[in-house]
Amino acid sequence: MKLNIAVLSGDGIGPEVTNQAVKVLKAIAQEFDHSFVFRSADVGAIAIEETGSPFPDATLKLCKASDAILFGAIGDPKYDNDPSAKVRPEQGLLKLRKELGLYANIRPVKAYDELLDASPLKPENIKGTDICIYRELTGGIYFGEKTLSKDGDSATDLCAYSRVEIERVAHLAFKAAQGRRKKLTLVDKANVLETSRLWRKVVTEMASQYSDVTLEFLFVDNAAMQIILNPKQFDVILTENMFGDIISDEASVIGGSIGLLASASIGDKHAMFEPIHGSYPEAKDKGIANPIASILSAAMLLEHFNLIDEAAMIRKAIEKSLHLEITTPDLNSKYESISTSKVGDFIEDFINHPKDTNLN
Ligand code: IPM
Ligand code: MN
Repeated sequence: MKLNIAVLSGDGIGPEVTNQAVKVLKAIAQEFDHSFVFRSADVGAIAIEETGSPFPDATLKLCKASDAILFGAIGDPKYDNDPSAKVRPEQGLLKLRKELGLYANIRPVKAYDELLDASPLKPENIKGTDICIYRELTGGIYFGEKTLSKDGDSATDLCAYSRVEIERVAHLAFKAAQGRRKKLTLVDKANVLETSRLWRKVVTEMASQYSDVTLEFLFVDNAAMQIILNPKQFDVILTENMFGDIISDEASVIGGSIGLLASASIGDKHAMFEPIHGSYPEAKDKGIANPIASILSAAMLLEHFNLIDEAAMIRKAIEKSLHLEITTPDLNSKYESISTSKVGDFIEDFINHPKDTNLN
C-alpha cells in the first residue's frame, strides 16, 4: 500500500517521540512491502516563531494532500502564563481539528499486565481494564463563541451542540461497541446542562439502531470517580469535547503513564494520529520522553487503513519491550538509562528481525 503521511511533530518532546514512530513505520514498510512517504510541516510554537501562525497555510495544504497525519505535541510554557497572548500554540491544534473536520477522537486505555505496579491504583482494581473513549472533538465549549468584556473583568465561553455533531461521533462509538464488549456509556452532565440533555436524547434515539449494544448514562462527576474506583466496568465511553479531554487524562493513570496513551482523530475525509500527552517541555531533548504513545498512534494509523497484521506486530513489539523493561524512566525506576530512541530502536529491531528477537 502507498501512503502519504504528513508529519507534524510540533513542540517540546513532540519531535523526539514522533521520530521513533516514523522509524517504526519505516521498518513496517520494509517488512511488509509498503511505500510510506513522509513529509514534515510546522505546527504550534515552532510555527509561530517561524511564520507568526501556529497553523500556517502550507501545513494545512500538506495535511489536506496527505492520507494521514502523524502529530507530535503542542505547547510552550512561554505562552501558558501570558493571558494577553493573542496567538497560542494550542490554536494550531484546534484549527487543524476544525479545518480537517476531525470530529471523533478515539482514546484507548488499557492496563498492561506488565505495568500493573506502575499505576498508583491497586493492581487488582485495574487488571484487565480495556476502555475506549470516544471524545467529540470539533464542537462544544472549545469552539463556542468567546467574549471578554471591555474592562476585562468578565468573560464567556459558549457551549453549543447540534444533533448532527452528536450523531456522527455517536455512530462511530456505537459501532466500536458492537465490535467490542457491546456496552456504551454516555458521560454527560444532563442534570445541569441543556447540551447534555440534547446528547442524551439524540443518543437514546439512536440506540434502537444498535439493539445489541447496552447503553448506559453517567454524570461526569460520578464518571470521574468510577474510572478510578472500578475502571473494568467500562467498555466504550462516549462524551463531549471538554469532558473527554478531562476524563482521558484521568484514565491514563490506569495504564501507569500518560506516555502510553495514543489517539486517533477521525473525520469523513481526514485522519490524524497523536499521543494524548502534551509537549512536556521540561523533558525536551533529554531522551527521557516515552515514545510508546507516539508509536501506538502509528499502530492506530495502520489499523485505520486496515493494515491489521502490521499494527499487531507493533503492539507485540511494545508488549515485549514492556515485558523486558526496555522502558523510559516514567515506567522504569531501575534502569534510567533507557532512552527514548533506544526504546524506538528495540521496537524497530523487533519488526526487522521478528524471528531473532527473544520472544515468548
Ligand atoms: C488534548 C490536549 C488539547 C485539548 C490541547 C493541547 C488544546 O489537551 O489533545 O487533549 O485540550 O484538546
Ligand atoms: Mn488534553
